[in-house]
Formats: sequence, C-alpha cells, structure tokens
Amino acid sequence: MLPRPNFAAHRDAVLSQLPPDEAVLVFSGAPTLRNGDSEHRYRPDSDVYWLTGWTDPTCAVFLRAGEEPLTMFVRPKDREREVWEGWRPGVDGARRDFGADAAFPYADLPKELPRLLQGVRALHYAFACDADNDTLVMGSVSRAARKAKRTGMVTPETYHHPVRVLHEVRLHKQPGELALMREAARVSAEAHVAAMLATRPGVTEYAIESVLIDTFLRSGSTGAGYTPIVAGGANATVLHYVTNRDTLEDGELLLVDAGAEVGFYTADITRTWPVSGRFTEVQRRAYEHVLAAQEAAIAAAVVGAAFTDIHDAAVRRLTEGMIDLGLLEGDVDERIEDASFKRYYMHGTSHWLGLDVHDVGAYASEGAPRSLHAGQVLTVEPGLYIATDDEDAPAALRGLGIRIEDDILVTPEGPEVLTAGVPKSPDAIEALLAGR
Ligand code: GLY
Ligand code: MN
Ligand code: MN
Repeated sequence: MLPRPNFAAHRDAVLSQLPPDEAVLVFSGAPTLRNGDSEHRYRPDSDVYWLTGWTDPTCAVFLRAGEEPLTMFVRPKDREREVWEGWRPGVDGARRDFGADAAFPYADLPKELPRLLQGVRALHYAFACDADNDTLVMGSVSRAARKAKRTGMVTPETYHHPVRVLHEVRLHKQPGELALMREAARVSAEAHVAAMLATRPGVTEYAIESVLIDTFLRSGSTGAGYTPIVAGGANATVLHYVTNRDTLEDGELLLVDAGAEVGFYTADITRTWPVSGRFTEVQRRAYEHVLAAQEAAIAAAVVGAAFTDIHDAAVRRLTEGMIDLGLLEGDVDERIEDASFKRYYMHGTSHWLGLDVHDVGAYASEGAPRSLHAGQVLTVEPGLYIATDDEDAPAALRGLGIRIEDDILVTPEGPEVLTAGVPKSPDAIEALLAGR
C-alpha cells in the first residue's frame, strides 16, 4: 500500500496562514476528449488533490477558516453514468471519506458560491486559467456584492493568486508527501537502470520508452509524470524532444529524461549514456564537465542559500568546461558576463518538484531570489548542447547533447539526492552497461 498524504494536515497548514476573512477556491476540471468520444486518462488538478485527496473529475473546493472550513462541490452519484465511467464517491462520499464539512452537487456551485463569499474580503483564486471558471467566479462575486448591500457584509475586494499562500505551503513538503516522492524517485531510478540495460545499437528510442513505462507501471506508478524524452544522438540537442521514433546508433549518446508518477507525485531524472556501452574520449570529457557542474550545483542547495546560487554554480563550472572543450574562448568571468555560455547551456538549472513536475512555488520575492528551506524539493539539471550545424564548435562535439538531472531534498544536514539509485559517473555507467 502506498503511503497516503495527510490531506487534513495540508488544509490546516493553509488555514493557519489565512485570516478569517480570506478564502481559497480551486477547481478540478472535466475530463478532456482526445478525439471522437475517447477521453484522456483523467488526472486531478494538483491543488484540489493536495487539499482533499479527491480524484473524481469536475470538482470545486472552497476553504475558509471557521466552524466548517471545507466545502466541496462534486459530481453526484449517477447510476447510469457510473456504468460507463466507473464508481463515484458522490456528495455523501465527500463528507464521509474526504473531510468535507459541507458538500453539494457541482451544479449547485452558482447558487451556493455567492452565499459562501459573504464575509470574504480576499479570495485566493487563479484568474485567467479557465474562462468558464472566471465567468462563474465573477458572476458569484457580483451576486454576493448585491446581496451584501442589504446585509452590510464584506464581499471580495481583493484577489490573490494561489502562489501567495496555497502554493507557498505546497512548496514545503510534509512527511507523507516525501514518502511518495522517495518512492517515485526509487521507481524512476529503477526504470533508468532498466533502460540502460536495454540499450544497444539498433534498438529504437520507443523501445527504450517502453522499458521505462513498463518499469513504472509494474512498480505501481500510474505512469510517467511527464512525456519521457528518449533522445539518441543529436536529438538530445532538442530540449523538449518527445518524438522518440529514431533508431539508436553505435557511437552516439542516448539522453533519457523520464520520471514516474507515484500517488500523483513525480520524480524527474535525466541520464545520458553511450549506446555502445563506452564513452568516446571526447564524449567522456564533455560528460565529466557536466557532471562536475551538477555536483557543484547540488553542493549549493543548502538551507539559507539563494535559489539562484545553484544555477550560478552550474553556469560557472559549465563555462569552464566550454572553454576547456574549445567551445568558448577567453576568461570564465567574461564569458559568464557576456552570457555567451547560453549558446551551449540555454535553460535553467532547477525547478521545484512535487505533484507537478515543474511544481508550484515562487522562485523570487520582490525581485530577490528566495532562500532555500528544509523540506523543499528541487531538481538540479545542468546540460551541454551543441547544435549539429554549429560551425564554430569543434567538429567532434557537434550534435552532442548531455544532461544530468537529479532530485534534491533540502535538509538541515545538507542536500539529499533522492535519485541516487541510478549510476552517474562515467565509470559506474560503463560498468553497468558492460553487464548487459
Ligand atoms: N522533465 C522536465 C524537466 O526536466 O524540466
Ligand atoms: Mn527537470
Ligand atoms: Mn527532466
């Protein structure tokens, strides 16, 4: 059995930050069609899930400090629809099993929301994400305000994006969440090892993807937390390559960026390894620069450091590598200053990780980078990408794409690498591949 996050503790943590005249409103959308009448597999909205554990589609959650903090609007039981779509907890289930103090059919939201908004001065709601929800919220605020003219109650005057409170609390992972993140990391590491062992010249990128997905599903994951990148050779220089249709060739590197989602929490791992089983001399040299950059960046992920310290450490070490490899010339500080390193390292080094692969939480506050706290989880993922047609680059480096990505828990004792179960040093990778 997977550990279950303590959703009531999540709500309590938000409520402790919320004055009595503020409320949170979040929505989980309807299933979406892929084409015809075939639907995508439903995945709940992360805010709704985090607050309640509710996974049924089409739901709204209203949270406000008081006697009855949690109100849920859910799909009611419907015997005929359940024959096609499966069992639903329904309104009673929301109260009985999900901690709702009050629950209504979703269709009652326009009627009930103006009442719930009485006495709410500030509403935490993500405007401009869903036009239908925006219309519903604006209509409800308008009706609430008209009614309040007679009662003298306050109604929403101020709106906050959930990043202000809800996402700030989500950013600091609780023990139940970390248990799932560790499991997602473990399964993802196992999948990367299986993918390494399945790699040889003539195997396709999609065959490697199938090994990843197979390992995820067998381990109880519901699948990938994002579309896996399985990029042989120069495909690895396309940062968001997800086509995964080519055949792997002897002599090239394979970059795999894939993470399993376990209990809706995802891992995010990238490894790059030689299809033949052995790095060429130039591949190993480039790889070691990326690895050194990653190690320097991980070492910067300590309590009290600025979020940007991680990227700065990676950029400095990568830029040294670019000069060593003949990609750039001159002085490290100058190449950082004029940003010429961006030609070969054009993305950020870290993002928050959790229910979403690029998880919620601000990266800066009033123009200043935020400082790191224990309980935050982030990726560290430096890379080096040399376009095939880069005529300024040494010919042996053209078409090379390398990224190394791990998931890091910030702790008072220092950075903890959650994804250490997959080899990373060139020697360890070659040793594993030699055993295929
Ligand atoms: N897999 C997405 C990322 O690395 O950011
Ligand atoms: Mn990432
Ligand atoms: Mn990734």
